[in-house]
Order: sequence, then structure tokens, then C-alpha cells
Amino acid sequence: MITQVLVLNGPNLGRLGIREPEVYGHTSFDELAGLCRSTGRALGLDVDVRQTDDEREMISWVHEAADARMPVVINPAAFTHYSYALRDALAMRTAPLVEVHISNPAARESFRHTSVVAAVADGTVAGFGLLSYQLALQAIAELVAEQAKKAEHATQAEHGKQP
Ligand code: DQA
Repeated sequence: MITQVLVLNGPNLGRLGIREPEVYGHTSFDELAGLCRSTGRALGLDVDVRQTDDEREMISWVHEAADARMPVVINPAAFTHYSYALRDALAMRTAPLVEVHISNPAARESFRHTSVVAAVADGTVAGFGLLSYQLALQAIAELVAEQAKKAEHATQAEHGKQP
């Protein structure tokens, strides 16, 4: 069965390629989206890539993912550092969640050192440019496979069978 995954991107990431290329590189957002979809295909994931500058819209996508039990890769961009509303929405998740950053926020200005999202994610990948997204998708594929295995074992145990 193919797993659907949302790759959500926060403010200003639609400007990739022209936005501070010395920090975020020369690849456009559309190219990033294509890379995520092809990486997903190779991992057996159906990847839907979205970007918004609007906190309300981002939160509605997170609710959609929670309701559908869909795994999420999220680059919350600047929301990372201050959006408790996004953090609370992400805490409702029912499927794997990986936080991702193109740059390494820990090596930048001090306001970027805090992530209000990190504690509710399974993990964070940061600092590897667009490879961060590919590594995050790989982590999602592993986490989904692990969950499926656990569910299978639980069903077998329920029916009194040996795994
Ligand atoms: C970012 C890092 C954030 O600090 C910044 O606000 C962004 C992008 C990254 O991908 O490196 O917009 O999330």
C-alpha cells in the first residue's frame, strides 16, 4: 500500500532560489517539490508538497494530516521559533512527524536556536540543504514501516499467534 505524506513549508520558502541564495541555495521551490515527489516515489511514498505564508492555512493542513493519520515532513520556517499555535496543532498528530530545515538554525542568529516544534516531532533534520528533505522522507518511510510491523505483531498477539 502506498503511504501518503504531506511535506509542508512555511513562510518565505516559496521564494527559494531568489531568497538569500547564500543561505538557502539556488534551487527553486518548484524544483524542491519535484525532488521531494521523486524521492518519495523511490521510497514508496506519495508526496504532496505545499507552501504557505499564512499560519492559519498551515494549521488547517496539520489538522487535515492529523484527521487522516498522514505522516508529515514540515519546514515551519520562521514559525519554528515562535508559533505555539502551530506547535499545539502538531502535538495532535497521529502519524510520524519530522521537522526539517535547509540551513542549520543552531549555527545562526540566537533567535533561531529555539524551536517550539522540535519537542513534538519524532526528530529534526537540519543543515543539509535540500538533502534535509530527502533524509526526512527516508526517516518517514522507516517510521511508517516500523509502525506497520508493530501493528502486525499486535494483531498476531491478539489472535494468540507467534509473530
Ligand atoms: C529555515 C530556518 C528558519 O530559521 C528560517 O526562518 C527559514 C528557513 C530553514 O529551512 O533553514 O525561513 O527553516
